[in-house]
Amino acid sequence: MNQPSIIQLPKFLDPRGNLSFISEEDQIPFKIARTYWIYDVPGGEVRGAHAYKSLQEFVVALSGSFDVVLHDGKQEHRFHLNRSYYGLYVPKMYWRSMENFSTNSVAMVLADKVYEENEYIRDFETFQSLTK
Ligand code: TYD
Repeated sequence: MNQPSIIQLPKFLDPRGNLSFISEEDQIPFKIARTYWIYDVPGGEVRGAHAYKSLQEFVVALSGSFDVVLHDGKQEHRFHLNRSYYGLYVPKMYWRSMENFSTNSVAMVLADKVYEENEYIRDFETFQSLTK
């Protein structure tokens, strides 16, 4: 998979409260090596604003809502995430920002690699030159 896509997750509706899950390759197209989450984001703040050379991610709005903005070097696409039963698959080499966080929102991110600063491209012009 090399295109961003919204992936629906299993959803067990229950009067006691709903349940969704991710069981690695059954739901998302990679094996999970790392999970992190972003929370307590002050109004108006932007997270991300970088690309990964080879890392893939899957982003879920576990609570609240936010926008994931992806740029492929030519075009920008905005994905509004506001439910915990679907997420956005982000392939490698997309410039990705996260913004418009609602109060008390929680962004959960699954990645296929452990954290490594060398995976990051943090300069947009460098990123664009690599997509040409
Ligand atoms: P970073 O990915 O740069 O955040 P953002 O995408 O919002 O710009 O991460 C911020 C800092 O957190 C980074 O300097 C190192 C640390 N960090 C880890 O140690 N492990 C991780 O898995 C992540 C995502 C970040």
